[in-house]
Amino acid sequence: MSPVRVRQHVNPLAQKYQTPVKSLDWEKVYSQPHQPLHLDIGSARGRFLLNMAKIETNWNFLGLEIREPLVIEANQLCSDLGLTNLHYLFCNVNKSLKTLLSSLPAGTLQRVTIQFPDPWFKSRHAKRRIVQPELVSDLANYLAVGGVVFLQSDIESLALEMRNNFSQNPAFQKLSSQEWMPENPLPVATEREIATKNKGEPIYRTLFIKREITA
Ligand SMILES: C[S@@+](CC[C@H](N)C(=O)[O-])C[C@H]1O[C@@H](n2cnc3c(N)ncnc32)[C@H](O)[C@@H]1O
Repeated sequence: MSPVRVRQHVNPLAQKYQTPVKSLDWEKVYSQPHQPLHLDIGSARGRFLLNMAKIETNWNFLGLEIREPLVIEANQLCSDLGLTNLHYLFCNVNKSLKTLLSSLPAGTLQRVTIQFPDPWFKSRHAKRRIVQPELVSDLANYLAVGGVVFLQSDIESLALEMRNNFSQNPAFQKLSSQEWMPENPLPVATEREIATKNKGEPIYRTLFIKREITA
């Protein structure tokens, strides 16, 4: 089956992407809904999560993606392969994250990845970028203590902006004293990561851990 063709970018501020999703019935989504959950934001064709789900069968995986045809295709592949720890959801993450996270079984969200998000280079388009302070604070509220957020990009200015947004939230502590992590700590590379490596271009990576906040 040839991959579905889609527009390269959609504007997340467009009217049609402003409706939040309804929360899901996790008991129907996963065969083991209380396993730790890895959330991948901007999952595109979903191959990264598909390979993660095959390797880490004692985790659940959720991909959020704004381009619906990619989600339909990825869920089809997931069900063809009989994977019961993987699901993709069509949504605008900046409108739907709180609803989704607040409905999860408590303590299950333990890993988040935001990898090569769309850069929206023009400053007047900055509000279209995924990593906004509100998204960081929603993750801070629902990620389990000790849970991690992994960020990577091939655009240094965007990687810096993402890192600053997380650093400014007291719930997150940057792991590793190096400016950028030299290697990906995960066992699977994303499609964009593979393409960037093949071009010999640099990748800017940061890992944060969620810490306990004492009043
Ligand atoms: C450049 S791609 C990177 C895909 C993948 N993470 C990788 O590393 O290969 C960024 C993805 O984020 C999706 N995206 C952008 N804004 C989004 C939003 N507000 N909500 C959900 N997905 C979004 C895009 O449609 C696109 O598939």
